[in-house]
Amino acid sequence: MPQPPRRLKRSLMNTGGPVTRWGDPALAAKLAECLDVDPTAKLPFTHGFHTYPARMHPETAARAIARFAPKPARLLDPFVGSGTTALEAVRAGLAFTGVEISAVALEIAWARSRVFRADEARLVEREGHEIAERATRARASDLREPEWGEGIEDWFSPHTFREVGLLSELIEEVRRPELRRVLRVVLSSILVRLSKQASDSITVVDRDYSPWRPKAAYKLFADKCSELSRSYAELAQDMRGRGMPWLEPEFFLSDSRTVNLDRAAYGLALSSPPYPGTYDYMFHHRLRFPLFGEDVSFAEEHEIGARRDFKRRPDAVARYRDDMKRVIARVLDALVPGAPFIMLVGDGRTATETVEADRLLREIADELGARVAAGVSQERSEWSFGAKKKRKAEHFLMLVRS
Ligand SMILES: C[S@@+](CC[C@H](N)C(=O)[O-])C[C@H]1O[C@@H](n2cnc3c(N)ncnc32)[C@H](O)[C@@H]1O
Repeated sequence: MPQPPRRLKRSLMNTGGPVTRWGDPALAAKLAECLDVDPTAKLPFTHGFHTYPARMHPETAARAIARFAPKPARLLDPFVGSGTTALEAVRAGLAFTGVEISAVALEIAWARSRVFRADEARLVEREGHEIAERATRARASDLREPEWGEGIEDWFSPHTFREVGLLSELIEEVRRPELRRVLRVVLSSILVRLSKQASDSITVVDRDYSPWRPKAAYKLFADKCSELSRSYAELAQDMRGRGMPWLEPEFFLSDSRTVNLDRAAYGLALSSPPYPGTYDYMFHHRLRFPLFGEDVSFAEEHEIGARRDFKRRPDAVARYRDDMKRVIARVLDALVPGAPFIMLVGDGRTATETVEADRLLREIADELGARVAAGVSQERSEWSFGAKKKRKAEHFLMLVRS
């Protein structure tokens, strides 16, 4: 019997699988073009810089913006996550608003969607390497665990955790606030890798964990700074080459069910909401929240569709439906009349039932005086812990108020 893969590392959701189209044929064809992306291609710019579970494929976001965003337009993502749509809006020269409950996600999105000049981009590498060199010269006996590290220390080998502490201390000494903020995100990008956690979305101790050798954290940090520097330079060149001015995106740390948005202001909403019962975003980032001086409780309390709820609460599907309805109602009010809300969303499952996300969204649209005009569905196979294959689909669909 085939064995399930040991690690499910699928951070880009919309890849692979045959596609079924439905609704308006011309719209469905355009949506299908957005999903037809190469999952093996190297992610350009800062897209691949920081892991984040269930990221939208950047090419899908870019194509959706090119096909469906009027110019000029403001673009809205009520579940912005690590900022894939933000960066693609920036690249398209559009004003962007992203909403998210996770302060960690917003820091990543902020760092990923900055456009620096080439000389500023190089500073990330220069400063990062200087920090790594100073850390390498420090005596092991002088190292302390990070001040913010209380409660997460068991997730690291003691020497690695002290190295993280030193990197963090040296970052806080950097004079330029913007650079300091970027470097914190660099440290965040290697934090889970340095820990015993199996991966971002597998929040248990890795079966194969072996301690990092001393000072490995410094080399990893310096390498990541170089990588980010190169990505920023690539982005700067891309923007300059196309004569595109940088419109700085705005981000709100807020719950999309209740966030205040300008009315009739956005030409396109493009988002990937949490899939019902699929992820526990706040568990994924529990090591990172303290690094940013943030408390996870707001995000935990306001997370929609969390897997933990679907396991425990008998009314989880009804709640998810109600939550999504509240978000969609807000987004529709924020859109210019007739403008589309395009969503990438996947089916989910409770202990007893499958949640067909496309059906659920069609029902919600109906209740809100809107309709799902077209969509494409792509089947996925997924391994469960019982090594039993289950079928689910992911949907890329367009909702409009009639
Ligand atoms: C599928 S992910 C978005 C990923 C994003 N498209 C990217 O490429 O990084 C869904 C996001 O919704 C966020 N979220 C969950 N409940 C929320 C709420 N009530 N308000 C705003 N964001 C929420 C989660 O923290 C998560 O980052």
